[in-house]
Amino acid sequence: MTKNINSIVLALWGKGGSGKTSTALALASLAAAEGRRAIVLDADPQRSASEWHAVSTNPAFAVHSTEVGAVAALLERAKSRYDLVIIDNPPARYSGSTAIVEKAGMSLICARPFLFDVTLALEWVHVLKNAHTTPLVALNAAPPLRLDMESPAVRIARERLKSAGATLWRHQITHRLAYPELIHRGMTIADLSADAPARADYERLWSAICKWNT
Ligand SMILES: Nc1ncnc2c1ncn2[C@@H]1O[C@H](COP(=O)(O)OP(=O)(O)O)[C@@H](O)[C@H]1O
Ligand SMILES: [Mg+2]
Repeated sequence: MTKNINSIVLALWGKGGSGKTSTALALASLAAAEGRRAIVLDADPQRSASEWHAVSTNPAFAVHSTEVGAVAALLERAKSRYDLVIIDNPPARYSGSTAIVEKAGMSLICARPFLFDVTLALEWVHVLKNAHTTPLVALNAAPPLRLDMESPAVRIARERLKSAGATLWRHQITHRLAYPELIHRGMTIADLSADAPARADYERLWSAICKWNT
């Protein structure tokens, strides 16, 4: 097997319900659609990624459930076998979380663009910056654009995050029923047609992550 010197290790952080698991599955499916070997390490005791994997019909990527404390030790082996390793973290910090922050090449914070959610995202920004990493923040489940303009909720969230020194992804994942519906059917973003708006949101995020990795 070829050694993956360029494999991406992406750790997802954020409040419960911020979209970590949905994002992990979406990004892994898009990477797999490009022919990359992808795995999601499901470190959340709620095991949502694993639940999806159990109902998925023909998953194009692997999902491995593990404990937070075991992730860091798994990473070297995972990197040698996969081009993309996504760590789907629980919403709270555990003792193994620091080792994950240190070993992951990149951290992505998922946040809904609302008061409590942004407060928690800022806490994650603080924690990850203190660990000398530069996390990217992605706004998820955001109200739709109107006439190409972001909603007031998104503008306020961006201002708050920016003034606290967060690095923000410049697009958003819009709130769409297509996402829970796909999950419910054991499907992924890559099952949508190339021109579906729900797919385009995640294609943009995936391309930002690939650029960020170079
Ligand atoms: N962009 C979105 N639009 C609509 N529903 C979403 C979106 N992102 C996530 N959801 C739904 O919100 C719930 C929480 O998302 P999930 O990915 O499980 O968050 P987390 O892993 O951070 O707890 C799920 O039911 C999911 O289907
Ligand atoms: Mg989850």
